[in-house]
Amino acid sequence: MELGEPMKEKFLLDKSIAFVNHGSYGPAPKCVIDQKIKYIYEQESSPDDWFRVKHPKYYEESLAAAAKFIGAKPENLVLVDNVTTGINTVIKSLSFEPGDKIMVNSHTYGAIANAVKEQHDFKGVEIVNVEIPIPVKCEDEFVDVFRKEYEKHKPIKLHVFDHITSASALVFPVKKLAKLAKEYGTLSLIDGAHAPGQVDLNVEDIGADFYSANFHKWCYVARSCGFVWFSPDHAVKIRPLVTSHGYKQPLNDQFNYSGTRDCSSMFTIPRALQFYEEIGGLKALQSHADKVLGTACKSLAAALGTGEMDVPDSMKAPFMRLVRLPIDQPAQAFAKSGVPLNSRTKMNLKLAEFTRKHGVGIVLVYFNDKLWARYSANAYNTENDYVVARNGILRELQEMASRS
Ligand SMILES: Cc1ncc(COP(=O)(O)O)c(C=O)c1O
Repeated sequence: MELGEPMKEKFLLDKSIAFVNHGSYGPAPKCVIDQKIKYIYEQESSPDDWFRVKHPKYYEESLAAAAKFIGAKPENLVLVDNVTTGINTVIKSLSFEPGDKIMVNSHTYGAIANAVKEQHDFKGVEIVNVEIPIPVKCEDEFVDVFRKEYEKHKPIKLHVFDHITSASALVFPVKKLAKLAKEYGTLSLIDGAHAPGQVDLNVEDIGADFYSANFHKWCYVARSCGFVWFSPDHAVKIRPLVTSHGYKQPLNDQFNYSGTRDCSSMFTIPRALQFYEEIGGLKALQSHADKVLGTACKSLAAALGTGEMDVPDSMKAPFMRLVRLPIDQPAQAFAKSGVPLNSRTKMNLKLAEFTRKHGVGIVLVYFNDKLWARYSANAYNTENDYVVARNGILRELQEMASRS
């Protein structure tokens, strides 16, 4: 199947908007949304049949398809609503004592950093926040930054790190970091929010203790849907956040029935993964993303007189790239304009206004005291989407300059 323009018909995205922000929420294609709607109809037309017969069957089929896709044994895997739920599930299943240490870093996603901070606030856990400077020169130097922190702060009970970061679009060398954690007797928990569908994932092979991620971002499952993989030695520790009928039953019985929760999104896993393969899978998506993002980032950086984030090729996210915006001291500039960069709500409203004004769906990220445009690429993106995005950014910057 040809990617680009013909794919726009397969999604529900508003055609008047150049949407270059797949990474934030991951829109699902029409065929997957149709499947979800079909499940809602099945559920509503016969709730008894749904909860007694179909629900467990669909859960099992979804789990099997998910396990195959991420290289997991189904017995080491549970499905959850999203990665935020998954990471919280693991953190709250481990019992922390005052003085225990959890390591995170300056690239950790805000919601996940909060889940760790909660352990600090309520359980007296110490947080070791590792500062990872940009540019990153190579994977080994990157891993060494963590080694030094382990030496300084050992023993560390848990290390939470990303597979692909959100704000910096960096692929972490997860196998090396999982190995390092083992060396120091530390449990590793990987936030793989962006990894399934964007990289060839084999969770059993990484050597981590826990791995949680989303299926709705890059592999077309209806929102929201994620998973937790755990190494078999930890199966006894894992408990769902919500205790329900499955209490003390095998793990997947505990996770598949969380009261009368609506699992219609979760059950679209088989259809979504089928779509992923139908359009050519990782290989086709990768070559399409390379093509459109390569041109788009060069063109935006040239127009702005800036550059892309400087990271080694092996650590570049396959479908996301960052280009710096020419705003010095953005935190101060934005505070002055009434939209402080640390106010998620105000920033989201500002971005929504930008979308309405310029017809561009995009996310800006503040990182390393700089403001960046984060471009995502997916099956439906065309070179023209990024021309519209670039022009919108240029117009907005001109308006900002003329106002100040
Ligand atoms: C790195 C990372 N972790 C966690 C999340 C949270 O994902 P969700 O809100 O789907 O749980 C995101 C969302 O963008 C993310 O980028």
